[in-house]
This record gives sequence, structure tokens and C-alpha cells, in this order.
Amino acid sequence: MNRETSAAWHYHNLTKHSYESVRKDRHYLDWETQPLPFKVYPDLPPIPLPREWEELRSSALAALNPSPVGDDKAPTLTDLSALLYFSAGILKSRRYPGGEMFFRAASCTGALYEIEIYLVCRDLEGLRAGVYHFNPGDFSLRLMRPGDYRGLIASAAGDEPSLLYAPVVLIFSGTFWRNAWKYRNRTYRHFGWDNGTILANTLAVSVGYGLSTKVVLGFEDETLNELLNLDVKREVVLSLVSLGRDRDTVLGRKQTLEPLKLGVVAQKGEIDYPEMRQMHSATFLTSAQEVAEWRSHHYSPKHPAPQGESFRLAPAPVEKYPDSVERVISRRGSSRSFQRKSITFEQFSTILHYASLNLWADFLSSSGTLNDWYLIVHDVDGVQPGSYFFHRDRRAIELLRTGNFRNLAGRLGLEQALPADAAFDVFFLSDLHAVLEALGNRGYRAAQLEAGILGGKIYLASYAVHLGATGLTFYDDEVADFFSPHARGKSAIFLMACGPGRKRPSAF
Ligand SMILES: Cc1cc2nc3c(=O)[nH]c(=O)nc-3n(C[C@H](O)[C@H](O)[C@H](O)COP(=O)(O)O)c2cc1C
Repeated sequence: MNRETSAAWHYHNLTKHSYESVRKDRHYLDWETQPLPFKVYPDLPPIPLPREWEELRSSALAALNPSPVGDDKAPTLTDLSALLYFSAGILKSRRYPGGEMFFRAASCTGALYEIEIYLVCRDLEGLRAGVYHFNPGDFSLRLMRPGDYRGLIASAAGDEPSLLYAPVVLIFSGTFWRNAWKYRNRTYRHFGWDNGTILANTLAVSVGYGLSTKVVLGFEDETLNELLNLDVKREVVLSLVSLGRDRDTVLGRKQTLEPLKLGVVAQKGEIDYPEMRQMHSATFLTSAQEVAEWRSHHYSPKHPAPQGESFRLAPAPVEKYPDSVERVISRRGSSRSFQRKSITFEQFSTILHYASLNLWADFLSSSGTLNDWYLIVHDVDGVQPGSYFFHRDRRAIELLRTGNFRNLAGRLGLEQALPADAAFDVFFLSDLHAVLEALGNRGYRAAQLEAGILGGKIYLASYAVHLGATGLTFYDDEVADFFSPHARGKSAIFLMACGPGRKRPSAF
């Protein structure tokens, strides 16, 4: 198949970081145009969400391993409330001279929180059928469209089976300016990462409630943007999650969309970055047939058998770290420094093992992945410091090169101390040539999103075993060069550092 992939390559190359580019292209924040942290609909009344729920039954580690299809179950309003809180709610705040920062359940580049969540449901106990916007600021929903629009979503998604039976669908969008204020053209990569870290929490909490979930990336973009009345120069739908499972299908239920006119509080001094919008438009699917055709292709990674010495992981059973997923999310925070202390092989294995288990998404085959795991190990008991490749299918790491790479890891991670001081770093690299060949430009969106979800799962697994973690940015080509020849031709997508960390002191 000859897919159109030039837009993804153009954008990817345009937004690479290098030692030279970060020096040549310095950017200073304009505090006059600092974006609002929330999307506000001034004319829609808030529907406050309940703030009390029972602690979940599932441990965080167990929650990282969802089964393909859960029970027939619909979430209650309390389940939804907990799910939204632990996905994107405000868990901490910190005062600073100019105001107050609100930190949310999932990590986010620059704490700018550009991802919005919308909820679409049938009639549920305590919530009538409709399309709602979730505002974490006042922890409320706002009804944008009354009525059951799930049929329209399922049909726009080419009758994706999980959506045909889902009582609730969450829609995630990205708001360009809220992140581009600081990161400019890089924001489109951040959309995938920051949507992904939220999704990791959503998926894990859903397991705790026994709800089936599936991440869906195949849908007609224009229909969903219209459903949410988005001004697509500013905000665009990125992904969907089906939540729960009914016996009855929504198949064949079609709705027509009436245009909406909803006022939104405007941002000051927005700057448009057309290259990101062009990149996004190039990923569009424009008909249900195109969606179905796109979904019928999968990228299957072909990894050579280990050539070097390899070591099987020895993860802990879930019972050893019984903290519930909410407890783990509540104590999560990005490590601001690492202590340069060793971690056990069991902690290391547990993080890699649980973070790499099942991810149900329409862009992945059952055991598939778009990202490969390359590691730099600094200080893990019983593991020689060096670089490694993680064979997910074999549950083993293969030694690529021994050496003390602390300084080098710091350099690869944009000259920051965090990846140098961590116990180990995970670099996600993708064979973008093959991924884009299979999935076209939309494959770029999928690769970034999957890396974000995996990063979010690494956060959860690290905090479950009482360690710290942080997402990081990197010098693209230097990362690929460092792991070559094994990684020859691959592209750096995302970086996570893990180890005994210190968090930012929280206000609570
Ligand atoms: C994709 C991603 C990239 C990040 N990159 C960096 C980074 O390069 N340096 C850094 O110190 N923190 C980085 N962070 C951490 C964020 O600054 C942090 O998530 C944000 O301030 C919110 O704080 P919290 O994670 O403690 O809740 C990154 C986080 C994510 C999700």
C-alpha cells in the first residue's frame, strides 16, 4: 500500500530538537498572553459532580492489565465522577507570586493541561442522555446537547464494535494555544503524550470499576468536531474511549447534527501555528468507509531474536504492592530530582512488565505496539549499567552495550539532570517508516498517543512500587544514533526516567 505520509515526515522533522536548534531558537514566555487553564462556557449551568466515592477494589498493578472485554456493565454517575477526577481532576495546587497552579491527576508538558474531556452518554441514573463538557476547575459537567448521540459516534467510527455497545463514550480534544503558548509547533506531539498520560489513568481506573474500555482512533474527524461545536482553528478532537458495555447495540441509530452556538471565554493574544493544523488535517479520515479501511491495517513489528546476552524479567505478583489505583494516582507527581540510588531488579522488572501489558486500541493488533522500548540502565541491582532493548514478547531485556551512560543520558534528555540521575530511562522509538506505511499520516498521531499511554502506565507502575518517574523531552537524532545500529532508521518518540525520586512539594 502506498500511503500518503509526507505531512507526518514534514512535521516530525520540523519539530525535532537538537543541541543547535534549542540554542538557535530560544523562546520567551509572554505572561500577558498566558492561556486560561480551563475551557469555560459562560452560558451553560454547571452540573456539579459528586465528590465522594468508595475506594476502588483494584490494586494499581492489577489495573494495568485489563482483560479484553469486561462484564456487561454501565458506569454510574459516581463511577464517572471518580473516573474523571482520577483522569484529569485537580489533585494539588501551589501558590506562586503571580497566582496559583493547579496540578492534575495525570502529568502534562509544562503543566498546561491542553486536553479537554467531553462525555457522551445514554440515560444513566442521575445523568440524562447528552453531550457534556467536563470542567475540572469547578468539577462539573455542562450539558452541550441533550439527547443520545452514541449512534452518531459509532457510525462516524465505522461501527467500531466497542462503541456499538458502549453506554458512555469519552472524547478527548486538544486546544492548540494552551500548550503552544510555551511549546509553539511542538504542541502537536504533546497532544499525543498529554492525551496518553490521561488515558493511562482512565484505563486503569476503569479496570477498578469493572468497565470495559477501548481506545479508538479511527473516526471521521469532521463529524466529531461538529458534534462538540469546536472551532477547529483552536481545538480538535484527538481520540475516543468507549466506557462500559451494554447488551443492546446502538447500530443503525443515526442522528442529524443541528448547529450549536455556544459562547466560550476567549483567550488573549493567541498565535496560530498553521503547520500543526496542516499536520492534523493530513491525518483526517473523511468517511465511514475510509475509517473501516484504515482500521483494517495494522503495523506488526518484526524484532530480530536477541543477539546479545539477555535477562528475563522477574516482576512481583500484584499482591506485593496492593495500593489501590487511586492511592497511586494521588501520590503521583513528576520527580523533580532523582537520588542516584539503586533500585531492585524486582522493582525494575515490575515497572517494565506491568506498564507493557495489554493495551486495547483500534490501531493495535492484539499483541502489537507502534513503539519499541530502549533502555539505559544506570543503577539496578544485578544489571550491568548499559543500554538494552526490551523484548516485550519474551519478557526479557537484551544487552546492547555496557557502560556508564549517566552523562550521556543527561545530554540525550535535553541536557537535564533527571535522566542522568534516574535509576533507568526508557526511550520509546518507533519505526515510523513502517508505521506510516501501514497507517498513513494518522499513524503519526497513533504512535505519539501510544507512547503517551505507555509513559502514563510507567508513571503508575513506578509509583505503585514506591519509586518516582518523570516524562522528558530529548534530542531526537542523538537518541536514535545512540541506540544504533539496533535502532537504525527508527525515530525517537518519548522518554521516561524512573528511580527513587523527590517530588515537588505539594500544597496539600
Ligand atoms: C510528555 C511529558 C514531557 C515532560 N517533559 C519534561 C521535561 O523535559 N523536564 C521536566 O522537568 N519535566 C517534564 N515533564 C513533567 C511535567 O513538567 C509535569 O508533568 C507537569 O509539571 C505536571 O506536574 P506533575 O506531573 O507533578 O503533576 C514532562 C511531562 C510529560 C507528560
